[in-house]
Amino acid sequence: MTKEQIAQLLSSTGKSALELHEKASRVRDQVCGNKVYLRGLIELSNTCRKNCFYCGIRASNTGVRRYLLDENEVLDAARFAWERKYGSVVIQSGERSDKEFTTFIASLLKKIHVATAHSMRITLSCGEQTEDTYQLWKDCGADRYLLRIETSNPDLYRKIHPSDGMHEYHNRIKALETLMKCGYQTGTGVMIGLPFQTLDDLVNDLLFFRSSGIHMVGMGPYIEHPDTPLFQFRNSIPTVAKRVGLSLNMIAILRLLMPDINIASTTALQTLDNDARAKGLKAGANVIMPNITPMMYKDAYLLYNGKTGVKDSPVEASENLEAMVRSIGCQLMLSQWGDPLKFAAGSSSN
Ligand code: 5AD
Ligand code: SF4
Repeated sequence: MTKEQIAQLLSSTGKSALELHEKASRVRDQVCGNKVYLRGLIELSNTCRKNCFYCGIRASNTGVRRYLLDENEVLDAARFAWERKYGSVVIQSGERSDKEFTTFIASLLKKIHVATAHSMRITLSCGEQTEDTYQLWKDCGADRYLLRIETSNPDLYRKIHPSDGMHEYHNRIKALETLMKCGYQTGTGVMIGLPFQTLDDLVNDLLFFRSSGIHMVGMGPYIEHPDTPLFQFRNSIPTVAKRVGLSLNMIAILRLLMPDINIASTTALQTLDNDARAKGLKAGANVIMPNITPMMYKDAYLLYNGKTGVKDSPVEASENLEAMVRSIGCQLMLSQWGDPLKFAAGSSSN
């Protein structure tokens, strides 16, 4: 596909968008099967040293009740996922690089494996770390890592992050490369509908995914948060319907470009449109992540406005998503790791 063709597909609406989504979903069925994998999402902590201009839990937001789950809370959540036959859990956290945190994660990894009879994949999503830390966590049993690039346009990256030495585009790229080098199943992603973002940027994001050779992608719409610097540009971003449409088209085109990777249908999508996580699966995604964070912390992990499901218990969140997958005729894959085919094959999608 040429850039022009991708741009044209990205702009699809109505019937042509539906045709695009159906085509992508057929490609998923042919290459990966009509299968959806579940990952139990555990939001470990909302403490973060960074100050991304879009994010509700940025360090400077003094209105956030900060928390860190304790070991038992994490192990209970992991056991819950295991008992529900999820093949994996994702531990997501604000970014911290102090030793207390990095060793806590290392110890959690080992204990989760023991608590779940070494039968689960563990994914980390804990931001940029040194190679030593990534390697330590890998050695302690982390299998996958998610680190979104947020945008592949370095100028846009600079506009949505402070220039304080902690938010450098090239460090982000280097961190992704390090993760791949350490042997992780590596995922990245972007936000869609950011202030200042163009259609061309989104086309380049898709091409970036392909050229970087990553194994997994999670991307979703940008959603404004009132206590963040980007909120002032809320009137310049695409409408909710457009951001949802663009996000679904991004998923579908990515499936066509990289048939053998795992693509998540994200919470942010669902936040803007109650049916959108199902629509994401119908557009070629094959992963969903029920939020199994203990109830009392869920409403403190607010990256954006109106996050969906914060009042649902882990049981409700899981039951809702499991029912949704079945209702759209996809196979719910239980007790399966769901490694990305691309990783298993060590293949290139190019
Ligand atoms: N809207 C949508 N996604 C957001 N994230 C952070 N803030 C927002 C927002 N306002 C996403 C980023 C980050 C991930 C954990 O959450 O892409 O990498
Ligand atoms: Fe921290 Fe991630 Fe939010 Fe940036 S997006 S402020 S790194 S939690």
